[in-house]
Amino acid sequence: EKGGYDHFMLKEIYEQPSVIKDTYRGRLLANQGIVRMAGVEDNLEKFTNAKRILIIACGTSWHAGLVAEYIIEEFARIPVEVEYASEFRYRNPIVYKDDVVIAISQSGETADTLAAIKLAKEKGAFVFGVCNVVGSSISRETHAGAYTHAGPEIGVASTKAFTTQITVLTMLALRLAKVKGTMSTSEHQRYLLELELMPEKVEEALASNEVTKQIAAIYKDAPNCLYLGRGYNFPVALEGALKLKEISYIHAEGYPAAEMKHGPIALIDESMPVIVIAPNNGHYDKVVSNIQEIKARSGKIIAVVTKGDTQVRALADHVIEIPETSEPFTPLLTTIPLQLLSYHIAVMRGCNVDQPRNLAKSVTVE
Ligand code: F6R
Repeated sequence: EKGGYDHFMLKEIYEQPSVIKDTYRGRLLANQGIVRMAGVEDNLEKFTNAKRILIIACGTSWHAGLVAEYIIEEFARIPVEVEYASEFRYRNPIVYKDDVVIAISQSGETADTLAAIKLAKEKGAFVFGVCNVVGSSISRETHAGAYTHAGPEIGVASTKAFTTQITVLTMLALRLAKVKGTMSTSEHQRYLLELELMPEKVEEALASNEVTKQIAAIYKDAPNCLYLGRGYNFPVALEGALKLKEISYIHAEGYPAAEMKHGPIALIDESMPVIVIAPNNGHYDKVVSNIQEIKARSGKIIAVVTKGDTQVRALADHVIEIPETSEPFTPLLTTIPLQLLSYHIAVMRGCNVDQPRNLAKSVTVE
């Protein structure tokens, strides 16, 4: 049932190229220049009239929401707010009738997300679900939605759900960009073609398995770890840290790289591994100077870079390469080595990777 893999988590990490394809199959028609998702088409006016999109979710799904915030705002120029479902429901939130609420949930059973959806509906918002489990409570409670088609995710640590959630939300952003005219036709077309190539590129990113294993062997006993990223990759830093915490029990934190100087830099010494997400686009030079600041304090740098990078390689203790892609799509690639790194560290520490302590696959309690 694990298809020859030692753990479900590893199997699910390796399934990502094929499930991303399943997610966009029949929806992304790149050579016709079209993205078509029934739940979006049937409610297109709701989306185009929205002055604001609110995204509610928990955990890894909340991180996918943060990536989507950057992508939707950039592509479709609609303001997006992302909130933890638990915070949203307990604070008498302001919801306007013309708000669109997007609820993201792999299981479709998360109690806080479900309760937040009910509250948003009471306040008159249109609620769109992005779920993986077909027929789940959240998929039934929402007005419309799009499934991620990632197949069953058994490992408690979410992996393929995350990348397919981002894929669905990217398609949504591209559809809205087209109808709102916030992106040129040629740019739109370029993104469709690039999205179609992501399964191949994720496959290539999976080739980092060996190097992440070697890095894992060096840092498996670290008590702490810092993850840094900027822009689209700031949420990936949060997600990388969450993956490490939940399956290896190593304390890890994710930060926007530029926040280092506002506090976390005090933590840096020779025993602190810092994972820096540094693809060659999007504030690359700024990230390079962040790396220099960490180096100057003897921190250990593990950098995720674009293939062929030389500048970061010259500074970092270890580099992990991912293929080149457009900046908004880098999270689909940078997240892969971070999943693998957590996986190998957890295995080397003898942890129960698929069923970490204190965690359940779907959190149906408040
Ligand atoms: C992290 C993880 C949790 C879930 C969270 C939301 O690996 O599995 O943080 O992401 O409990 O679950 P869903 O997406 O099912 O609502």
